[in-house]
Amino acid sequence: MKVLITGVAGMIGARLADWIAENHPEVELIGIDDLSGGYLENINPKVQFYKQNLADDISAIFEREKPDVVYHLAAYAAEGLSPFVRVFNYQNNLIATTRVITQCIKHGVKRLVYTSSMSVYGRGKTPFDERDQQAPIDPYGVAKYAAEMDIKIAHEQHGLEYCIIRPHNVYGAKQNIWDKYRNVLGIWMFRLMNSEPISIFGDGEQKRAFSYIDDITEPLWNAAIRKEAAGEIINLGGIYECTITEAADTLIKVVGHGEKVHLESRHEVKHAWSTYQKSIDLLGFEHRTNLEQGLTKMWQWAQTQPKRHRFEWTQYELEVGFYSYWKK
Ligand SMILES: NC(=O)c1ccc[n+]([C@@H]2O[C@H](COP(=O)([O-])OP(=O)(O)OC[C@H]3O[C@@H](n4cnc5c(N)ncnc54)[C@H](O)[C@@H]3O)[C@@H](O)[C@H]2O)c1
Repeated sequence: MKVLITGVAGMIGARLADWIAENHPEVELIGIDDLSGGYLENINPKVQFYKQNLADDISAIFEREKPDVVYHLAAYAAEGLSPFVRVFNYQNNLIATTRVITQCIKHGVKRLVYTSSMSVYGRGKTPFDERDQQAPIDPYGVAKYAAEMDIKIAHEQHGLEYCIIRPHNVYGAKQNIWDKYRNVLGIWMFRLMNSEPISIFGDGEQKRAFSYIDDITEPLWNAAIRKEAAGEIINLGGIYECTITEAADTLIKVVGHGEKVHLESRHEVKHAWSTYQKSIDLLGFEHRTNLEQGLTKMWQWAQTQPKRHRFEWTQYELEVGFYSYWKK
């Protein structure tokens, strides 16, 4: 079987490739990534790698490789920044996805697994259930919502089989900790490594449920393989919610030092966590790693990483209503 993973240099793609290489060595792994947010060093040596921007023409790769299963994971997941890089967000996260969908239809891919996001629920009632009405509050969430709809249409009209996963707050080894706009725990780790205080937007009472990467790799595999996962939309991730302040205190405990600083609040959903029973029933999900254990592993990994500069956009598309901490 041939499995193609887009976003293979990013955290979820790279760790999924590692898991498949170890547990299903018979699988041929193909990977695509433009290295805009992931690193070459993350990619498992068993992956046949194509450096390619999915917003450009990708037909030659599909023509050549003819994958059986496609995981479409590539995206720029800086949700809070997305209103200020709107055009980029839709090109990179939505238009690129439509290119992948088109190729999947054209080449008879047996199943497309797409990582959507909890952001599609917007300010819904927690815990978010898969059957809830979607009402995203930012362009990142809108792109995910639109991509989900396009996949469903591709199924209805062209018979493309899919499984849509809505992961939430995944963290761990191989995460990009150098990007100042995304993934709260990664941002904090970079700051601690550079003797800066942990930054909290607003009062820190926002609630999230964090998910250690290694707990979701086998369920992702099952999303592609299990019959009962076909045509389903499934939340995936940690089952214990905590406040952002509690998460910061856990990281300080793991690292052994650190201060917190409160910055202006931003446009975001205050409380966001999801139901998980469906992921247990259909994907065999198990919440094995608590936040302290996961942060300990991630911190150990972070110590082994090369010193990289903090990633910053040179120009935004819009600065109206921009936050002081992201201004140049
Ligand atoms: N990590 C989370 O908490 C989380 C939560 C919900 C959803 N997701 C979704 O899961 C997927 C993977 O997330 P992740 O945490 O591994 O992110 P990541 O940034 O670590 O990985 C994404 C990868 O996609 C690549 N990429 C981005 N745009 C590309 C393009 N146009 N062409 C080719 N490659 C491109 C990047 O270089 C990067 O390596 C994303 O779709 C994200 O939206 C993640």
